[in-house]
Amino acid sequence: MPFIRELRPDDSGLLEEFLSSLSPRTIRFFSFHPLPKGFPENFVQRGDITCFVADLGGKIVGIVWWEPSFAPIPALAICVQDAYQGNGIGKKLLNRLIREARSGGKKGLRLTVSKNNKIAISLYKKAGFKIIGEYRDSKGLNYVMELLFC
Ligand SMILES: CC(C)(COP(=O)(O)OP(=O)(O)OC[C@H]1O[C@@H](n2cnc3c(N)ncnc32)[C@H](O)[C@@H]1OP(=O)(O)O)[C@@H](O)C(=O)NCCC(=O)NCCS
Repeated sequence: MPFIRELRPDDSGLLEEFLSSLSPRTIRFFSFHPLPKGFPENFVQRGDITCFVADLGGKIVGIVWWEPSFAPIPALAICVQDAYQGNGIGKKLLNRLIREARSGGKKGLRLTVSKNNKIAISLYKKAGFKIIGEYRDSKGLNYVMELLFC
């Protein structure tokens, strides 16, 4: 099982490898697609995200973060490498982010997810997220989900 650690400024190479290993399906579901310009070099330098990675023997196999850091209810994104999905890593990453948000005085966390992404929706519901809205984009219907701590 990987261990969960904070993202480090020197992780851009590992992130690059992580990203290039993802299947088109996983990339499609990964909520920040299309990738921000300059990812991952700029990403590891950004001061406005809180990010953890799943580290398996020095390789990144999963990532979770929220942005922007200062928001009372920031938006989260999560992704686990295809070969490692379904092994509890997503749950571990999400729980770590939720713990961090609670202890850091956040009011909650928010996310958007494709209605077709049954696995992610199940993960979020089990963690206590509720569907608070929905909208359609070019890829189809999406849910907005929120977890409030108070
Ligand atoms: C969604 C994702 C992060 C979940 O991570 P994961 O490591 O695969 O999930 P876990 O093994 O921790 O399982 C967490 C929950 O997901 C659900 N789940 C996992 N695999 C499943 C499967 N094959 N079928 C149905 N539900 C499944 C279960 O509810 C599970 O909880 P449980 O073990 O208590 O039953 C991961 O699959 C992923 O990266 N998918 C592609 C990118 C993506 O969709 N990101 C989210 C965008 S909003």
